[in-house]
Amino acid sequence: MDTEICRADLSEEAGRAAVCRAAEILRKGGLVAFPTETVYGLGGDGLNPASARKIYAAKGRPSDNPLILHIASRRELTPLVQTVPEAAERLMEAFWPGPMTLIFTKSDAVPPEATGGLPTVAVRMPSHPVARMLIQEAGVPVAAPSANRSGRPSPTTAAHVAEDLTGQIEMILDGGPVEIGLESTILDVTGEIPLVLRPGAISREQVEALLGDCRMDPAILGKPDPNLRPRAPGMKYRHYAPKAELTIVEGSRDAAAREISRLAAEAAARGKKVGILCAEESAGLYPAQWVKSLGTRQQEETIAHNLYRCLREFDEESVEIVYSEAFGEGPLGDAIMNRLTKAAGYRILRAEE
Ligand code: TXA
Ligand code: MG
Repeated sequence: MDTEICRADLSEEAGRAAVCRAAEILRKGGLVAFPTETVYGLGGDGLNPASARKIYAAKGRPSDNPLILHIASRRELTPLVQTVPEAAERLMEAFWPGPMTLIFTKSDAVPPEATGGLPTVAVRMPSHPVARMLIQEAGVPVAAPSANRSGRPSPTTAAHVAEDLTGQIEMILDGGPVEIGLESTILDVTGEIPLVLRPGAISREQVEALLGDCRMDPAILGKPDPNLRPRAPGMKYRHYAPKAELTIVEGSRDAAAREISRLAAEAAARGKKVGILCAEESAGLYPAQWVKSLGTRQQEETIAHNLYRCLREFDEESVEIVYSEAFGEGPLGDAIMNRLTKAAGYRILRAEE
């Protein structure tokens, strides 16, 4: 299959036409990758079981890992779910359109192929104008996981999507680099107290401020317990993983930098190709040829924005061993550390003072 890459600049006639053609592909059961404010999504008709099967095949993703349905207006939610809890109404009011996915009990309209057989369905209303136009034009909820091959970091540019999915999907809509760079916050609102299943740009504290209470799924930051089934099935897979062996080194700035430098030099002496992931503030403490800076700790958004791109760059450069500083002091901290910890396969060291 040929994969067409189209610029989706909505201020130009050609860009709008490309989105309309993409919508047509979705309606006919085909697959299209598109930008959202979080990461690029791999879209198919969310109510068509054959489209869902194609998505799993294109990603190489296990079919028990459910998809998120993307909608463009509040009224599109009603046919997909059995009830809308009061807490969900308030969350949608406050955070939609935006980087928040809500879990509802599903209606019969949603095929089990889209939900990995679960009785619940994940729904999100993205804010990206291209995503919104695509969903509107398609006239169906758009099922979209992140547009990466399973196990690779999520794509934050159209070029990342092309690397992973060329030949597997009909079209890629190129809307430039995404804004946030980490996937949406997932909140389960089917129980008494809202539960964060995946941290994202909307923090637990923001939800708590709105609703009074909000908990974190204990499976989020710790190493997965093989006896505990995470509530979001996708969280059990080794996601977001670079090909290199990544280790996080915690500790004070100076202690961590010393330990990372020592470990990196040791690996290089063993003949390994080495990389270091750090904040701008400490980039000068390491040998320049190994370093990728994620940006300043003063602006966590930048670190979130650059994380997946840097992990992909290490892959392209065939880096074998990466040492990373720890991040995540502010409101985006849980989301950043959740992705980094998974990318590291839970390898975390503590640098002694
Ligand atoms: O920001 C995002 O959410 C992006 C963009 C494209 O919208 N999408 C995304 O999709 O990250 P994906 O498929 O890569 O991740 C979806 C996550 C998985 O961990 C999955 O297990 C969880 O959502 N999920 C989906 N349906 C669920 C359900 N019914 N109950 C619990 N977790 C669910
Ligand atoms: Mg994903």
